[in-house]
Amino acid sequence: MNIVIVGTQFGDEGKGKFIDLLAKRADYIARYQGGANAGHTVVIGKKEFIFHLIPSGILHKRKKCIIGNGLVVDPQTLLEEIENLKKRGIDVKGRLFISENAHIVMPYHKLLDRVSELARKRKKIGTTGRGIGPCYTDKVARTGIRVADLIDEKTFKKKFKKILDEKNQLLRKIYHQKGFSYRKVLIEYSSYGRRIKKYVTNTSLLINRAIDKGKSVLLEGAQGTFLDIDWGTYPYVTSSHPVVGGVLTGLGVGPTRIDRVIGVAKAYTTRVGGGPLPTELPKRLGERVRERGREYGATTGRPRRCGWLDLVLLRSAIQINGLDSLILTKLDVFDELKEIKICTHYRYRGREINFFPNSLRVLSQCKPQYEVLKGWQESISRIKSYKKLPPNTKKYVKKIKKLLGIKIALISVGPQRNQTIVLDKTLR
Ligand code: GDP
Ligand code: IMO
Ligand code: MG
Repeated sequence: MNIVIVGTQFGDEGKGKFIDLLAKRADYIARYQGGANAGHTVVIGKKEFIFHLIPSGILHKRKKCIIGNGLVVDPQTLLEEIENLKKRGIDVKGRLFISENAHIVMPYHKLLDRVSELARKRKKIGTTGRGIGPCYTDKVARTGIRVADLIDEKTFKKKFKKILDEKNQLLRKIYHQKGFSYRKVLIEYSSYGRRIKKYVTNTSLLINRAIDKGKSVLLEGAQGTFLDIDWGTYPYVTSSHPVVGGVLTGLGVGPTRIDRVIGVAKAYTTRVGGGPLPTELPKRLGERVRERGREYGATTGRPRRCGWLDLVLLRSAIQINGLDSLILTKLDVFDELKEIKICTHYRYRGREINFFPNSLRVLSQCKPQYEVLKGWQESISRIKSYKKLPPNTKKYVKKIKKLLGIKIALISVGPQRNQTIVLDKTLR
């Protein structure tokens, strides 16, 4: 069975935990978009792993992991990730594959990311500074460097010279930066090329052949539906397609190969960086949820903004991704709250809005409408079965299920693998 896992909100929904958990039933785990802006956490006992580029299934020693063509790869971060895993006893040799067609994040992408953010002043996107936007910009402008170019020294040398001249002009004339030395970067990146060469292959062929042989692939989304370049709160978005559509172009697999699409939703909403968060909590309550939920970015350490669960977002995410079920995470974070609110719809100029508006102007005039539910005020983090959850927790889950008309496949009550309540027995 080939399952796609997508974020339904603004990223950090807990995808990493569930990729790791579901990886045991898969042969391959493949990322399809984004780059080292992602931070996917897997917690096993006292050990915590944060993955940026390597798929979150790598801890399973016999599983193969794929970095698809839809990604932008920072080779320095990737090699660091491989090294760090090795130090912790995880060897990726023979089971990590990188697409020839993925794009390379160059030093000027990272610098351009930072300086263009500074230039935006108060209208900052709040990017992760990992060069994601500038690298995808070059991909679309057809001036990017791909993995296949990097590992072929002659091609890289030629392409890079021409591109760097242009980038240095841009950096010097518009952003008043020094620019980069051709020789220095050439030496550094040629060495990265030599080191990653052994992982590089035609990953679309690899996946399709595996599926032909009856193997199963777990497709790992990064970010979330509302950070999507088309479906997110543009321009406060990332530059790729976290939505399910990204799987097809980002890995070279057809829609008929996908069996299930499961969305991951946090029991509340968080967002890191700029852009609208309609159900954002007032300061004190927001801080309380942030502390309990440890809502600090896994990549940048920045505090995440917190809001109530927003069913308008989720309704749209279900539609855009064709979700068949949801994984509900971090329910335990509400353990202490007396009251919990759910945003059921928005009100806009006297009308009821059930689906997320595309226009930020309309969105800014939308007023979230809430239903208030009683909290359960006890710890649920050790509970293993749905039956044993407190009645008020069940009411919260049932409310979500009913108002969205979707199955809840799994419920997460803590970061550990075993802090999971399985409702969909086929995922056991
Ligand atoms: P991802 O980007 O979607 O993989 O999510 P992140 O790793 O950025 O953020 C999720 C955070 O929540 C991580 O620190 C996880 O260890 C943690 N986490 C995941 N599920 C749960 C849960 O059910 N309860 C609690 N308390 N923490 C969780
Ligand atoms: P995971 O995979 C949460 C946000 C940034 C910023 C916007 C654009 O861990 O869920 P970028 O660096 O991509 O150009 O930044 O997107 N962002 C994320 N927020 N989780 C992520 O990944 C994110 N990746 C990017 O904070 O608002
Ligand atoms: Mg994250």
